[in-house]
Amino acid sequence: MRLPHPIPYQGSKRNLARAILERVGGREVRRLYEPFAGSAALTIAAAAAGVGARYLIADSLDPLIAIWRHVLTDPVGLADGYERVWKGQRRGDHGYYAGVRDRFNARGAPADLLYLLARCVKNSPRWNRDGHFNQSADRRRLGMSPEKMRRELAGAHELLRGKTDAASADFEETIAEATPRDLVYLDPPYEGTSGSRDTRYHQGLSRERLIAALERLNRRRVPWLLSYDGRSGARAYGAPLPAGLHSLRLELRAGRSSQATLNGLASVTVESLYVSPSLGGAGRP
Ligand SMILES: C[S@@+](CC[C@H](N)C(=O)[O-])C[C@H]1O[C@@H](n2cnc3c(N)ncnc32)[C@H](O)[C@@H]1O
Repeated sequence: MRLPHPIPYQGSKRNLARAILERVGGREVRRLYEPFAGSAALTIAAAAAGVGARYLIADSLDPLIAIWRHVLTDPVGLADGYERVWKGQRRGDHGYYAGVRDRFNARGAPADLLYLLARCVKNSPRWNRDGHFNQSADRRRLGMSPEKMRRELAGAHELLRGKTDAASADFEETIAEATPRDLVYLDPPYEGTSGSRDTRYHQGLSRERLIAALERLNRRRVPWLLSYDGRSGARAYGAPLPAGLHSLRLELRAGRSSQATLNGLASVTVESLYVSPSLGGAGRP
């Protein structure tokens, strides 16, 4: 079954979601928490697979959550807004995208952000120090057509309506109420390796904060799954987490790295999935 995916978002877990959900096994999940939701690929896959009775989609990027609120309550209004913005563009008119970007940075409207995400280079937002969107347009394409966007928004609405909440919050606030009957899936920004600011996210996350939050979840016996470090060929991204925090670390194949392919290396990219102590026995090894 093809799953809807209305928010084009680099780093989306849509291709890994099934493999991640295998770790849940047959366990009953009262509520699935996705505190670093982005395009919420895991929540969408879980809803389609019947994993979880309820869902919480949360992210600290306010206008992204505004998009999710529209998906849940007014997908037609958002599809109309996207269509208006999309149809305003003309091939070769590079000023149009910049105008939408300025308007989004001034007002934060969800339809404008959806257009920018669909149209920007590699669907990969970049943020400056002031929290302003500053990624350029991909000049070779116009972004997802309004017809397709309407279908994707309607599909996500159908899967999630009536059982999903959306929250604009820091991840610690999001998971504060999670219990042993719930499941938390975390996909935080990669830890920067150079110590410099990571422009891919409006906000970074220190390894220390993440580890302390996982320790608290363990003390409360809340089951969690975490996507964290990875590697492409011989090159590693981020350092593995301490062994005492989790019961299992798997490497999931995430596809080929486009950079490595350009360099003629065609390396395989793998991402780590960490499984909490309380979930250790579920699913296949
Ligand atoms: C790697 S992306 C998640 C991608 C997501 N799994 C998907 O399928 O699209 C990380 C997300 O975490 C958000 N984020 C960064 N710092 C955060 C924080 N402290 N609390 C909550 N969300 C945060 C970013 O806005 C971004 O959307």
